[in-house]
Amino acid sequence: MRKKITKAIFPVAGMGTRFLPATKSVPKEIMTLVDRPLVQYAIDEAREAGIKDFIFVTSRGTGALEDYFDLAPQLEQELRKKGKEDLLKILKSTNMDSGQIAYVRQHKPLGLGHAVWCARHLIGNEPFAVMLPDDVIAAEKPCLAQMVEAYAENPGNIVAAMEVPDEKTSSYGMLDIKEDMGRIVSTKGMVEKPKMGEAPSNLAVIGRYILTPTVLKMLNKKRPGAGGEIQLTDAISDAREAGEEVYGYRFEGHRFDCGSKSGFLQATVSFALAREDLRDDLWAYLNDIIYAEKAAQ
Ligand code: UTP
Repeated sequence: MRKKITKAIFPVAGMGTRFLPATKSVPKEIMTLVDRPLVQYAIDEAREAGIKDFIFVTSRGTGALEDYFDLAPQLEQELRKKGKEDLLKILKSTNMDSGQIAYVRQHKPLGLGHAVWCARHLIGNEPFAVMLPDDVIAAEKPCLAQMVEAYAENPGNIVAAMEVPDEKTSSYGMLDIKEDMGRIVSTKGMVEKPKMGEAPSNLAVIGRYILTPTVLKMLNKKRPGAGGEIQLTDAISDAREAGEEVYGYRFEGHRFDCGSKSGFLQATVSFALAREDLRDDLWAYLNDIIYAEKAAQ
């Protein structure tokens, strides 16, 4: 029987240069989308997909992220004393059981592939998920849960994929499609950040993966790829060349690139508008500024 996916790796050891100066002291993944850090969205998505073990690949300076997962008994006690049951419930929903979270260090930012490789001993010989918390996906059924279902039908490696315009293909890992079956595509290759005009398709890989242990073996080569970094897409390509299937999965939902300023702002507006307690105020404000902008033109 095929093994269930119960472990997920969260690589959070990047430098987050696009968010400097904030990321000098605040890890990108702890930055707040409405009222929850990015990492909480990723954890919730992972839980809904059946993940039981959460493995963070961290670097120096990610202490605030580790603290976030600690219990806060004093705060809980204060809230209980004041009868603030609603806040207490919110706080408790962020608790993790002891032993559910593990941290491994990536000592140098050698690339996403290298970060995943750093967690190899905690994965062992079973399929696993990789989630990049700065890709936030708004979806009725969480993206990773969709992929776990797709994995049950299509054993192998599965990467989340979405169409991007020609001018954006050089920013992503791009899929070379073998057969397009609609929601799922089989692939005959993958190119990390191809030069403009050289992408094999418009289907880009984004930050959700279901991978086999073969990918970890391929990462042992520690071969630098695009940008001099050890790329995860190269190791996935190597697994395909070794005979494994690699599928692209067109997920249902909207992906926000919260690693970029513009993506983060769009996600903030979108998630706030989806909240009953915030929607009316924000909507009125947005209408006002759009009206003022138009009037000024
Ligand atoms: P990004 O490409 O977004 O890089 O990494 P970054 O360093 O986080 O941000 P910028 O581009 O400098 O602004 C994609 C994911 O891979 C992780 C990052 O933490 C992020 O989740 N990563 C990247 C590592 O864990 N280690 C690395 O060496 C590189």
